[in-house]
Amino acid sequence: MKPYKNISSSKKVQVRNMFNSISKEYDFLNKIMTFGNDAVWRKKIYSIAKESSPEIILDIATGTADIALELSNIKNVKIIGIDISEKMLKIGDNKILKRNLSSRIQLQKGDAENIDYPENYFDIVTIGFGVRNFENLTIGLKETYRVLKKTGKLIILETSVPNNTILKLFYKILSRTFIPTIGYLLSKDRTAYGYLQESAEKFPCGKKFLSILEQAGFKNTRLQVLMLGATSIYIAEK
Ligand SMILES: C[S@@+](CC[C@H](N)C(=O)[O-])C[C@H]1O[C@@H](n2cnc3c(N)ncnc32)[C@H](O)[C@@H]1O
Repeated sequence: MKPYKNISSSKKVQVRNMFNSISKEYDFLNKIMTFGNDAVWRKKIYSIAKESSPEIILDIATGTADIALELSNIKNVKIIGIDISEKMLKIGDNKILKRNLSSRIQLQKGDAENIDYPENYFDIVTIGFGVRNFENLTIGLKETYRVLKKTGKLIILETSVPNNTILKLFYKILSRTFIPTIGYLLSKDRTAYGYLQESAEKFPCGKKFLSILEQAGFKNTRLQVLMLGATSIYIAEK
């Protein structure tokens, strides 16, 4: 699905424009909408990535670079962050400069569906709240597979829908009221928060998403359920 249903441009152009338009309030709204759990989830990604002692990591859909910054706590690691939204990257770049981490983290404009790196290049690829925004999920995942080293690992953080019927009902009521209301009150782009809520409900999650990863070539796929199933971490190996 596209963010702006009555506009004919491609999903990619719309997603880029949408994140450009909400870039300034993104970090703040992210914190509110995840009930402050975003930082905890980034630490989980860090712990999983650290196990492989990576030397080079690609953070796809890096946005304002919070995952890249967390990963920089891994000793001697180098991180490349790519995103299609220039304004999200600009905010990320400012954070990196402020923390004096420019020699360790480099942000570049880049598309998950056409990654500008050779095959077998990265030890780890991370993607936080990015995959459901891809125009073509299969191409994005196959590109990720291509750039990972043979021993490489993919770590994806994404919204999901709880399995349990009561939790699912509670989730739907909360997400259909809370997220659009917060977006309405605090964001210039109200359509964006309608899209983020609706795409979260429709995006394949749990075992369905693990099977999509396997179809893209990944093995040893597994998942960690977070926030009663409203968010998941998927781990997969090349
Ligand atoms: C919800 S934000 C997530 C940002 C960050 N990873 C985080 O966890 O806060 C989604 C990001 O995905 C980016 N994005 C969407 N499609 C992309 C693509 N094909 N290639 C690279 N980035 C993409 C958007 O521009 C946006 O910055």
